Amino acid sequence: MSITDAQAAHFRRLGFFFLPNPHGGEAMREVDRRQRQRAAEWEQRQWPAGFNRLACQFLMLGETALQLVEKPELVEAACRLLECDRVHVGACGLGDASHLISEDGRPWRQVHWHADGGPEARQVSLRTALDRHDPGNAPLRVLPGTHLRPKDEVAEELMQLELASGQHDEAPKLCFSRHPSEVEVVLDPRWTLVWTPSCWHATGVKTAAGARRAMSWNYYPVGGRRRDLEAVKHIFADSWEGWTESRRQLWGMVP
Ligand SMILES: [Fe+2]
Repeated sequence: MSITDAQAAHFRRLGFFFLPNPHGGEAMREVDRRQRQRAAEWEQRQWPAGFNRLACQFLMLGETALQLVEKPELVEAACRLLECDRVHVGACGLGDASHLISEDGRPWRQVHWHADGGPEARQVSLRTALDRHDPGNAPLRVLPGTHLRPKDEVAEELMQLELASGQHDEAPKLCFSRHPSEVEVVLDPRWTLVWTPSCWHATGVKTAAGARRAMSWNYYPVGGRRRDLEAVKHIFADSWEGWTESRRQLWGMVP
């Protein structure tokens, strides 16, 4: 698997493209099995303050997680998309982000419009669903090309669309309204979304019962984010000091 010039150009211009699931059926079944096996333990464990809980769930997959992320073709694709010769993984996650975010008390399970980083943030994220994210299963919605635009400009555009819905007494803090150019991604486990989270995104509402699990991780060039470094050291406390140089580099342990 190597990415084409057309895919790379689509990523640069619009912020995303799809790859046939590069992990394969066997690895996906292994992720599914391990996630279920360790879900209760993950739920009950008290994670140190500042740790991203979905990252912890991903890292609890153990060696399986390391191997997914380290796959040479994926690392190579990330280097190509970011136009650099070395990348590291600075953020990862497994589970249902719509569930976590709804813990702030909002009355429905839906992630509001936002961008994780502006046009200056260089990052490539790979997102693969374990369960199909149908329209009722809080699918990711992306606004193509917005990774290239100033954040306040896009925020204002989304706010105006929100006000045009006629449902607010005053300007709301969070926006959810449909944008005429958004792409609702019905993510099926057969495909992996390759995208930049600098591209504005939200989700649909979760109305369907059942799981909405996805796994994702972000590659960054040197100097990029290293959000989950402490979680990696915590979860692999018994082994990380013996890791090879290249594994340590890929997980952001080499400055
Ligand atoms: Fe996000």
